[in-house]
Amino acid sequence: MSPAVPTHQEAGSQAGQPHLADLVVFGGTGDLSMRKLIPALYHADRDGRLAPQTRVIAMSRGGLTDDDFRGKVDAEVRGQVPIDDPEMWQRFLGRLHHVSVDVGSDDKSGWDGLAKLLAGHEERDRVYYLASPPRTFGPFCRELQGAGLVTPHSRVVLEKPLGNDLRSAQAINDEVGAIFDEHQIFRIDHYLGKETVQNLLVLRFANAFLEPIWNSLWIDHVQITVAETVGTPGRRGYYDHAGALRDMVQNHLLQLLTLTAMEAPARNDREAVRDEKVKVLQALRPIIGGEVGRFTVRGQYTEAGDMPGYLDEPGSTPPTEASRQVETFTAIRAEIKNWRWAGVPFYLRTGKRMPYRRSEIVVQFKDVPHSIFPGGSPNRLILRLQPEEGIELHIMAKEPGAGETTLRPVPLSLSFGETFTARVPEAYERLLTDVLAGNPTLFMRRDEVEAAWRWIDPILEAWKADPALPEPYAAGTTGPAAAHELLSRSGRAWHDQEDV
Ligand code: BG6
Repeated sequence: MSPAVPTHQEAGSQAGQPHLADLVVFGGTGDLSMRKLIPALYHADRDGRLAPQTRVIAMSRGGLTDDDFRGKVDAEVRGQVPIDDPEMWQRFLGRLHHVSVDVGSDDKSGWDGLAKLLAGHEERDRVYYLASPPRTFGPFCRELQGAGLVTPHSRVVLEKPLGNDLRSAQAINDEVGAIFDEHQIFRIDHYLGKETVQNLLVLRFANAFLEPIWNSLWIDHVQITVAETVGTPGRRGYYDHAGALRDMVQNHLLQLLTLTAMEAPARNDREAVRDEKVKVLQALRPIIGGEVGRFTVRGQYTEAGDMPGYLDEPGSTPPTEASRQVETFTAIRAEIKNWRWAGVPFYLRTGKRMPYRRSEIVVQFKDVPHSIFPGGSPNRLILRLQPEEGIELHIMAKEPGAGETTLRPVPLSLSFGETFTARVPEAYERLLTDVLAGNPTLFMRRDEVEAAWRWIDPILEAWKADPALPEPYAAGTTGPAAAHELLSRSGRAWHDQEDV
């Protein structure tokens, strides 16, 4: 293990000043880097959040020179970002470098190139961002250490997926943990970088009025939905072995659940916040054996109109048995066994090729204890993460008019776009800024990732043992019928279904 590292408050620059860092992106010419990381870094630079000498070093097997890489970024990223000052863009390109390293091969010469570039800058923070498949994490870290490039001010950033079950996640954590201390490891879940997700904490813990009613006495159930219109063209190689449960629920949806359900941390700091999130994951009631069929649903989209089914998505390897088995949609009824939430179902739902792109948390309150008006419906709080971030509280109001009182639910609505005119940063901008500042609060700790897998594993096992295929749903619809039955059997409905 590397020597103890000062915390981000102690290390590097003064508070508020950008940290001087070398950011090494392994997989630096890949899709994630070109679509998300480089644009996010450009925005950070434009907003003055990169220290003047900060360098971005892309690592790949590509054999590119610095100039080749800058040309590639100029060609591929220029159109994705606003360039109001061409000189600034040139300065940003000047920060970029490329080194060719073939991780896992016998040829270690590439590491000399990286060592040479980093030499003489040992005082800088070093951030190694692994935008590569998880099987490369262990070998990368070992070779990095072998090349003598892990300094006390080094950090490593791991992209998801972090394993495909508890055992593989533990193995990755062990391998990386043999080289880096836990506080140097930043496990990304990009949902935590989304503005509205952070706003959820502010809404809950910077306002007093919600806390007294944020519990099973007042809340009937919670719905967490991440619906996407996209399918999986060209991704079968990955998706056949992931599926919606591993790809979305184990990380993004469970993160939303923890933030919705956690107790107030004593401080807004790295350990206090994450301690509370872990407690929620540990309190999730396991869904095991025969319960899996009752509390979970899996579906796979089929052809509809001009949208191909999962098995016919273009640009992919031919479908196999694994393709037929994999779920592109899942819905789960979860429960949190603690004092605050006992008896409150948390319904989780995510799917590809749904009719709309929508990520939201819907908190459904209980009905009034005794109604004196006909036609009322319970209050509902909707936290919309995307698109059009906002918060809506649905309250009952009287329709104007003489005669009989007629009720109508109306939203008290906060649109972030209309209220705050500043540009909403992309999730990766916030997360990269935090990595560079050494602040891990919005990153997943080892025990958090493993607690999530511990809850997911029995569901995966039961699905694997079940010969039934996922239930088909037509592309462009809200998922299989069973997803609706999951709620309707207790007299509830997905909130978008009530509007249909
Ligand atoms: C990724 C998943 O983590 O999140 C993708 O691998 C998914 O399958 C994506 O499409 C969704 O992210 P966002 O930010 O578009 O909601």
